[in-house]
Amino acid sequence: MNNLNEILEKASKEHWAVGHFNVSNLEQLRAIMEAAKELKAPIMIGLSEGERKAVGLKQAVALVKAFQEEYGLPVFLNPDHSKSVELAKQAFDAGFDSVHIDLSKLSLAENIKGTKEVVDYVRAKNSEISIEGELGYLRGESKIQREIIEIKSEDLTKSEEAAEFVQKTGITRFAGAYGNIHGIAANEPKLDIERIRAIRKILPENVSLVLHGGSGIPDKQIKEAIAAGINNIHINTEIRVAYIEALRKSLAENPDETVPYKITPQAIEAVKQKVEEKLKLFNSVNRV
Ligand code: G3H
Ligand code: ZN
Repeated sequence: MNNLNEILEKASKEHWAVGHFNVSNLEQLRAIMEAAKELKAPIMIGLSEGERKAVGLKQAVALVKAFQEEYGLPVFLNPDHSKSVELAKQAFDAGFDSVHIDLSKLSLAENIKGTKEVVDYVRAKNSEISIEGELGYLRGESKIQREIIEIKSEDLTKSEEAAEFVQKTGITRFAGAYGNIHGIAANEPKLDIERIRAIRKILPENVSLVLHGGSGIPDKQIKEAIAAGINNIHINTEIRVAYIEALRKSLAENPDETVPYKITPQAIEAVKQKVEEKLKLFNSVNRV
């Protein structure tokens, strides 16, 4: 299996993006793995802090490893949005294939200090691992939000600060705020494509540019973002919604069914279709 840094660099040169999909149970993971296998796409599987609590660190590692072995696919497990140095280290020590340390709530200096601490810790044990840091303020959370979410200009990542952050921390994936939010809000997002282009230009070529909050962004903007330099896109809310809506429907249609695995196939299929749609949009089909 090629390492994640190499795959992301290839994606960057060829103008496509590696999909990062969040899970909190085996059904979602299976659905995503089946989509990746069918479309021959390298992928990342992410678990936020809450999702990690629900699944368990060792359990997540074992499940993804089982799919890696059985499907023979490049799939990388990522501790999405680790909000503390300790939790990032803990996930790496448990066997995650990638790290995401998100100290974006802190000042630039404190963010650099903590992110660098994680980079040093991880690299001392594994020099090839891909590590993501984050700078800028991303509003929202991974759910459907009924209200309008307004983004302020001070939320957005400044390219000079992005360059300083990357240079001082040594991360290989950079996540910024360019008009994206977590979740789906009442208003349509409007990505700042010029800002993405400027950040891409100022960062070293081997550093990936990550787009968080991929749910709810119109396809046209996703394509423009990839053309401007995004090579890694996170999707969570759309997967959650596909899963829960199909599950609700299945439960309503089969009120007497008590066998769990007879209720879940529709939900698995709904997630699989959603992920296939995204892999095609990211132009990551037939890249394995
Ligand atoms: O890290 C996870 C993602 O950024 C998910 O965002 O829920 O808007 O798809 P989303
Ligand atoms: Zn995110």
